[in-house]
Amino acid sequence: MPERILSNRDLEGIVDTSDEWIMRRSGIKERRISSNKRKEKTGDLAIRASLRALEMAGVSPDKLDMIVVGTVTPDRQFPSVACTVQEALNANNAAAFDISAGCSGFLYALETVNNAIRSGTCGTALVIGAECLSTIVNWEDRGTCVLLADGAGATVVSSATEQGGILSSHLKSDGKLWELLYSSYGSSHLPETLMDMDQKPFFLKMNGNRLFKKAIECLCSISRDALRHNSLSSEEIDLVVPHQANIRIIQAMANNLDIPMDKVYTNLHKYGNTSSASIPIALDEANREGLLSKGDNVLLVSFGAGLTWGASIVRWSI
Ligand code: UT7
Repeated sequence: MPERILSNRDLEGIVDTSDEWIMRRSGIKERRISSNKRKEKTGDLAIRASLRALEMAGVSPDKLDMIVVGTVTPDRQFPSVACTVQEALNANNAAAFDISAGCSGFLYALETVNNAIRSGTCGTALVIGAECLSTIVNWEDRGTCVLLADGAGATVVSSATEQGGILSSHLKSDGKLWELLYSSYGSSHLPETLMDMDQKPFFLKMNGNRLFKKAIECLCSISRDALRHNSLSSEEIDLVVPHQANIRIIQAMANNLDIPMDKVYTNLHKYGNTSSASIPIALDEANREGLLSKGDNVLLVSFGAGLTWGASIVRWSI
């Protein structure tokens, strides 16, 4: 996570909002924002997360066959953040590319790598979620700037002969609903006039209210698909690591699936919504807190721009 903390109280001085409103409506208390002074970009966060993941896994960068980054805020249009990570790590044997799937970027990346491993083309990979949403947020829009933040998380995924790992992944999309959450940053559709540029067309725009309802519906249905596919009941899930968008969305999902909140990992009060980075950050914190044991069934579930949504059930095998 970037070191710089932006609290709800700080936001009270930026837009017409209050700590009380943000806490009650979203569950967020503070978030991390990358430092302009240090020119901290998505790639820098991704590199730091990757180094920590490789250290924990005891894997050296030359063993990596693939680096895949889920992001909607790359350092530049191209080359990819994944190539920036590849260079920094000196991962000379790795293919590297980004995936754009909104807040579901990490789960899309994970399933891409899972399939590459299962087909035999990849042995070990880095799967990363990394974002600097603060760079595309409109800091005059209180409906979004209080929610979105920066951060990165990384996982090392490798082939294994033992049973377990990623049991199944379920990914969906509905492009008809793109206008519920989008940014025209890096658009191939140029504004007609410079006037349009002044309308700040590149900032992120969100219809929070409609998205809120759709999020609950999609998170519940995809989680049920994943449970059914693996003949698992909700009681057999040991930990849920959901995308950290809003505590009320997470509570509604848990309630609907009959999963008690003490089995649902949340850290959005500290970090806000970091899009594709939220699941790997939460998974790492849950792991470092000792909440994951060998054999546990972990449900990862996300929802975001696209629209995209997805769920993976992982049997923790380390
Ligand atoms: O990562 C995946 C994508 N994102 C999401 O899944 C986000 C989904 N949506 C949400 O989390 C919620 O819809 C929000 C947190 C964005 C908003 O909560 P809400 O309960 O849906 O509030 P609302 O948009 O219906 O707004 C209620 C009121 C409005 O005022 P009026 O029209 O009732 O007078 C807003 O103008 O709250 C006002 N409002 C605020 N007030 C203080 C909106 N933002 C703020 C704010 N501070 N920051």
